[in-house]
Amino acid sequence: MNDPRLAELSRALPDLKLTTDSGDLEHYGRDWTRRWHPAPLAIAFPATVDEVQAIVLWAFAEGVAVVPSGGRTGLSGGAVAANGEIVVSLDRMNRVLAFDPIDRTLTVQPGMPLEAVHKAAREHGLIYPVDFAARGSCQVGGNIATNAGGIRVIRYGNTRQWIAGLKVVTGTGELLDLNRGLIKNASGYDLRHLVIGSEGTLGIVVEATLSLTSPPPPSQVMLLAVPAMDALMRVFAEARHRLTLGAFEFFTDRALHHVLAHGAQRPFGEISPYYVVTEFDAQDEAQQAAALELFEFCLGEGWVTDGAISSSEAQAAALWRLREGITESLAQYRPYKNDVSVRISSVPDFMRDMQALLDAEYPQFDVVWFGHIGDGNLHINVLKPADVDDDRFVAQCEHVTKLLCDTLTRHGGSISAEHGIGLVKKPYLGSVRSEAEIALMRGIKAVWDPAGIMNPGKLL
Ligand code: MLT
Ligand code: ZN
Repeated sequence: MNDPRLAELSRALPDLKLTTDSGDLEHYGRDWTRRWHPAPLAIAFPATVDEVQAIVLWAFAEGVAVVPSGGRTGLSGGAVAANGEIVVSLDRMNRVLAFDPIDRTLTVQPGMPLEAVHKAAREHGLIYPVDFAARGSCQVGGNIATNAGGIRVIRYGNTRQWIAGLKVVTGTGELLDLNRGLIKNASGYDLRHLVIGSEGTLGIVVEATLSLTSPPPPSQVMLLAVPAMDALMRVFAEARHRLTLGAFEFFTDRALHHVLAHGAQRPFGEISPYYVVTEFDAQDEAQQAAALELFEFCLGEGWVTDGAISSSEAQAAALWRLREGITESLAQYRPYKNDVSVRISSVPDFMRDMQALLDAEYPQFDVVWFGHIGDGNLHINVLKPADVDDDRFVAQCEHVTKLLCDTLTRHGGSISAEHGIGLVKKPYLGSVRSEAEIALMRGIKAVWDPAGIMNPGKLL
């Protein structure tokens, strides 16, 4: 440790795992955005809450910026460390601390991968229902910091709904014990909810008490080929009416093209502009029949043109792969990602307007739409054409985002639905939050983090 500040930290915390190895700096300084060159000062791997507190107190005294770091699966640059920060990796704080069968809560350390949380809940006959494709790599602390959404929001809501208690170390090194697992707590501002979705700008989550619930009944998965967005919305309304939905996702023919090229299996011959993957309770014959009736009805109305329904777990997994494999299949093109939301009812008009602008200005772009359409949450990935150089593509994408912001403003939407603002969307925060709102956000940050050391430059 050549840096005297790090030498001081090591002296104060002799058991703290601390590294300045160049491979570690590179690895822990990045997230999945891959846009910034990582350049942190060091990576710390605390094993206890006391160590996290001591690191923050040291950073406060030395004026060193702190980047809290989970699985770094974020897509907005929220976990990037490119300016001499100390990265606080929660990798070693990855245990279950308590399970309470009466409260139905699981208290965990923040570095537990989401998949491990799922497993721990299942061991008690319960589920933690927040779920998305990065479940094996992301960590629950990061999920809380970003209020992660995913494929089950339509049924269970975002991460926010499942956090019964939080311990947080603020930017002054203070440890807060927020809400303590209470269901009812009408004692003023609920500070827990300020931390959820704050992207590490207010403090570091060091412990979380998660609410669990009963597993849903057995389900089936149905894939539908849909000719138009208006028809898709009608299918959605009808499906919500007739079935108990666990998921309602969509993707376009371009997404299908890429996921098939990446090894997924074509479910049926029909080529269609849009596809829906929906999961629904199919506990008994009546529920299974309702799904078939829905399909017949939508076919009769001309809202769907083909479909496939799972009759085994393997088939359900194969249908899910068509949706969950999209991100991976696009990764080789280093897509310019957008994650937006509008009211569900505004989805067709918003898509029409946005696609018309893209067709007019960038007809050469391969634009891949997919996402959680049942939540009004659309992912718009723009793939770089082979003959456009990196700089030109970045400039074009910035213009695409400008078009997107204008279109979202017209439709009352948000520039980030679930991926967060981070670095990527920071320039556009003002298009979806008012000046008064942003001033309040800055004021809140100044109280929690007066030295401005907590994930500076992100979000605000
Ligand atoms: C998804 O819904 O698949 C994720 O948000 C990831 C992505 O947008 O690529
Ligand atoms: Zn998503």
